[in-house]
Amino acid sequence: MRKPLKHRIVLLLFVTSTPLANPAQDLLEFREHFKNSFPTLPFDQFSNGVYAINEDARLAWEDIEEFPPYEEAIDAGKVLYESSFSNGKSYKDCFENDGIAIAHKYPYWDKEKEQVITLGLALNQCRRDNGEEGLSYKRGEIAYLLSYMAHTSRGKRIAIKSPDDHRKALSAYNKGKQFYYQRRGQLNFSCATCHVQNGGLQIRSETISPSLGHATGWPVYRAKWGEVGTLHRRFIGCSKQMRAKIYDPQGEEYRNLEYYLTYMSNSLPINGPSYRK
Ligand code: HEC
Repeated sequence: MRKPLKHRIVLLLFVTSTPLANPAQDLLEFREHFKNSFPTLPFDQFSNGVYAINEDARLAWEDIEEFPPYEEAIDAGKVLYESSFSNGKSYKDCFENDGIAIAHKYPYWDKEKEQVITLGLALNQCRRDNGEEGLSYKRGEIAYLLSYMAHTSRGKRIAIKSPDDHRKALSAYNKGKQFYYQRRGQLNFSCATCHVQNGGLQIRSETISPSLGHATGWPVYRAKWGEVGTLHRRFIGCSKQMRAKIYDPQGEEYRNLEYYLTYMSNSLPINGPSYRK
């Protein structure tokens, strides 16, 4: 027997009123949180991670920035970017505006491919579409290419489209968000435990940077690495610190995470590549 109409309406109301994720609302609350935590810090400064909030570290960093160690990576990236594949085409043919000053629009949700497309993934797709092998995702050529592309985008403000216009985009965003807030590993920390709740706090010899701005400065030349590395390499680094499971760089989990994290950095200026300790 069918339920009386009244009951069906109640049921319908219940289904439509279960709280849906609301990225625009998340973004407002996220920014508000950091504004409250660092009331005197100008918004754009969040692009500088720990150097925005720790004076001593900032002074040392300003010296380093006079002869930035990532400069070679930008030059190497430019050479790679402009060289031709064996079929005569090049990276330029795969991107809008020849790939210049576009990094602030990545990652995005691709409706046809039904996945989050990061710039790293797009570079390898471009290679494969042109009969070349993919590059590995943590360091080396991909980090050089990304350094060059980020450099051409410096000063552009991150402009990730809100995922709420597409159900599957929203679901990818939600997975990224859940990843960030889920406690994991032997220490039972989440990413947010450190970078949202404890940004600014000292952990051993390091100050923990606020999550806001985490997506702006990639790739990063880390003194510890002695070279430039990608954002996903850093995801892996922090996951190891948490003694948590490691996922593949550019696998779905980390791409969704990058989607969430970059959306949370919307409107901040791109300043990659950058230097970190
Ligand atoms: C135990 C605390 C802790 C946890 C948990 C943690 N991190 Fe970190 N993370 C750090 C420290 C310390 C650094 C280096 C200093 C800094 O920039 O914050 C860092 C750096 C980073 C950076 C680079 C920031 C920059 O400006 O260069 C990113 C991105 C990052 N973490 C992402 C994550 C993600 C994603 C997770 C969850 C998988 C995570 N972290 C979990 C402590 C933590």
